[in-house]
Amino acid sequence: MSANVLAIDQGTTSSRAIVFDGDYRNIAVAQEEFAQHFPASGWVEHEPEDIWDTTLRTAKAVVAEVGGPGAIAALGITNQRETTVIWDRRTGKAIHRAIVWQDRRTADRCARLKADGLEPTVAARTGLLLDPYFSGTKIGWILDHVDGARAAAEAGHLAFGTIDSFLLWRLTGGTVHATDATNASRTLLFDIHKGDWDDELLAALDVPRVLLPEVRDSSADFGETVPNLFGGAIAIRGIAGDQQAATVGQACFTPGMVKSTYGTGCFAVLNTGPEAVASQNRLLTTIAYRLDGRTTYALEGSIFIAGAAVQWLRDGLGVIAHADQSGEFAAEADPSHDVVLVPAFTGLGAPHWDADARGALYGITRATGPRELAHAALESVCFQTLDLIEAMHRDLPGHDADTVLRVDGGMVASDWTMQRLADILDAPVDRPVVLETTALGAAWLAGRGAGVWPDMEGFSASWRRDRRFEPAMDPDVRAARIARWNDAVRRTLSR
Ligand code: G3P
Repeated sequence: MSANVLAIDQGTTSSRAIVFDGDYRNIAVAQEEFAQHFPASGWVEHEPEDIWDTTLRTAKAVVAEVGGPGAIAALGITNQRETTVIWDRRTGKAIHRAIVWQDRRTADRCARLKADGLEPTVAARTGLLLDPYFSGTKIGWILDHVDGARAAAEAGHLAFGTIDSFLLWRLTGGTVHATDATNASRTLLFDIHKGDWDDELLAALDVPRVLLPEVRDSSADFGETVPNLFGGAIAIRGIAGDQQAATVGQACFTPGMVKSTYGTGCFAVLNTGPEAVASQNRLLTTIAYRLDGRTTYALEGSIFIAGAAVQWLRDGLGVIAHADQSGEFAAEADPSHDVVLVPAFTGLGAPHWDADARGALYGITRATGPRELAHAALESVCFQTLDLIEAMHRDLPGHDADTVLRVDGGMVASDWTMQRLADILDAPVDRPVVLETTALGAAWLAGRGAGVWPDMEGFSASWRRDRRFEPAMDPDVRAARIARWNDAVRRTLSR
């Protein structure tokens, strides 16, 4: 049997397909961006057909490149999490655009549920907080705003899914309605301790159980692709949300290991092993992966804007021509400037969870130019990471201070940003050789599921470092910069 594995990585701004060979080398890649829709302030939507078309086209391209479906042992799916799709089981068509994880339209609903005293129950069962980020209130919004949706849902005609589930449904020709435990853990509806949907939360959020997918392990039998898609069936053997897949791809299998991925947002995930640690510092408790029915938990810090700040410099302000330029510009910024960007474009995530905050720039003068803005944007990502790592240390005081942060995602290609990250964290930062860790994690889950790839130990041993960034900033300079950041955040919070 072939040892090649196909990973579909359906992200917030693009769909990617990558084939890895038996030595985890990436042998074929295809990527397509798709449109983002912003119908109102704080709203973000995706067209489900764009998600499907770009996924299918990129997957077809790489399957053809490596010689057809016979050259692929298994397929793994990883995805932007929380983004919510509801489709009609009879037609496979979505009844509304996908509501994206960044979307804030249900902030009022969350505030009401909080006022009703639901948050402690939510936190205890799901490990999450009442924030519009998660799927639960987005499902309710679609059911309440699409004509006839609630009745159709109750009659069993509709299906809900995060993006993995929607793609799985399409890939299997509507025969499998399932998800994995990591994606389920982001819905506000899943009891992460019992490993099942929670009836009390379903009732509180007005979500009929009949909408929901079956929850399986992250490495499991998810069926096969219908043969006409790729010219032959491919076994689907792995699914995980993208941040969890990156945790796997970074081989963070030992409790205490932590990774941070810099995509549209930034997500730091700390493996806590079989123990679900309840955060005292407004981090999330989530499922890192579930293998052979055993759940491994994690603490997660979620920041909504990381790479998206660079995208804003490029597409919103037009002050850089391409994303790579941001690091070069930051390095050339006038060091006497103290511009601070708090990129609360869609509110602030962990540890503040302020859905109503909006972005702010401090310290601009007439001499502030594109270089200083790029510097502020990249540095904001470093400061936000520091806030998360400090919250993790407070939650787990015994957590080893020697732990090195493993980083991945598009932004980590910038040496300037990674050096500044190490400086601000005052801790080393490790960049791996394989930067496609999200896709690699999904591939490993599928390869393991198909029995073509080894166990965790074998996979961990294959992890290689490209470069370690050691902290080198003067402590007084560091302290002053952090104080300025904290002051800027305080002034930006909405309450
Ligand atoms: O929770 C949202 C996250 O899964 C999105 O990831 O990489 O598309 O920014 P990304």
